[in-house]
Amino acid sequence: MTNRIEGKTAFVTGGAGGIGWAICKRFAAEGARVICADITAPGDFPPENVEHRSYDVTDEDAARSAFARLGAEWESLDILVNAAGIEIEKTIEDTTLEEWRRSFAVNVDGMFLASKYALPLLRKSAGASVINFGSYDGFIADPGLAAYCATKGAVHALTRAMACDHGPEGIRVNAVCPGYVDTPMLQSFFTGEGSGGGGKSIEDLQQAVRDVHPTRTYGTPDDIANLVLWLASDEARYASGQLWVMDGGLSAQVQQMRL
Ligand SMILES: NC(=O)c1ccc[n+]([C@@H]2O[C@H](COP(=O)([O-])OP(=O)(O)OC[C@H]3O[C@@H](n4cnc5c(N)ncnc54)[C@H](O)[C@@H]3O)[C@@H](O)[C@H]2O)c1
Repeated sequence: MTNRIEGKTAFVTGGAGGIGWAICKRFAAEGARVICADITAPGDFPPENVEHRSYDVTDEDAARSAFARLGAEWESLDILVNAAGIEIEKTIEDTTLEEWRRSFAVNVDGMFLASKYALPLLRKSAGASVINFGSYDGFIADPGLAAYCATKGAVHALTRAMACDHGPEGIRVNAVCPGYVDTPMLQSFFTGEGSGGGGKSIEDLQQAVRDVHPTRTYGTPDDIANLVLWLASDEARYASGQLWVMDGGLSAQVQQMRL
């Protein structure tokens, strides 16, 4: 099936990141016009119908002016993806207040600001879809990711609240909650303080992560883009207010005892 979002308009924060870029490319391939909004530029040359715009999700003036500009260019916004995110690999004891606030500024305030200023344009859509990035870390905790886990719990609660408030206006709101997905964020987790790697090589850590999954693999950005595409499309017209976990079954299993 192709062109499942033909003619729709989309704004993707964190669009230059591992998952965000896969979403931008997939949306464009399925017929949408896409703004890739990120503080960094994508590593690849953007395909037709994808335009990169420099955008800091923590900056209220940037949100106000980005959506005012969009309103002058497009009649409506059909799809908002809030994918910008950062991960600080520390326990709360090691996390500074500045790092804690930065985590919430990017992962939660950024979602609040983009959603707030996008709403007037989303209301003009014939059927709008907002997709927020939560995480399986919003349900269960990876050790050493305290602030990150807290932000994702907030994202999950915000997603439900937005779905309740704006469903009657024709706006569906869902969260996608990935497990381990092979992106720069995951690579920095493998090399960072939070991995608990204990001096293991990256290859050994990667294999250990694969082995712990029921599916014996971790995800790719395209896996996540497939779910996001469905949520963005009219096929998902009855889907709202939900937290869609995609984690290779990781959160379904109890930890195996190693006797
Ligand atoms: N990769 C995983 O395993 C995983 C798992 C669960 C959830 N997630 C979530 O998925 C989303 C995408 O993650 P990813 O793996 O693609 O990460 P990534 O690090 O590859 O991409 C994140 C993007 O966010 C952008 N960004 C950071 N701060 C920003 C700011 N202030 N303004 C605008 N853009 C900013 C970065 O420039 C980057 O392009 C995140 O919300 C992340 O928390 C990822």
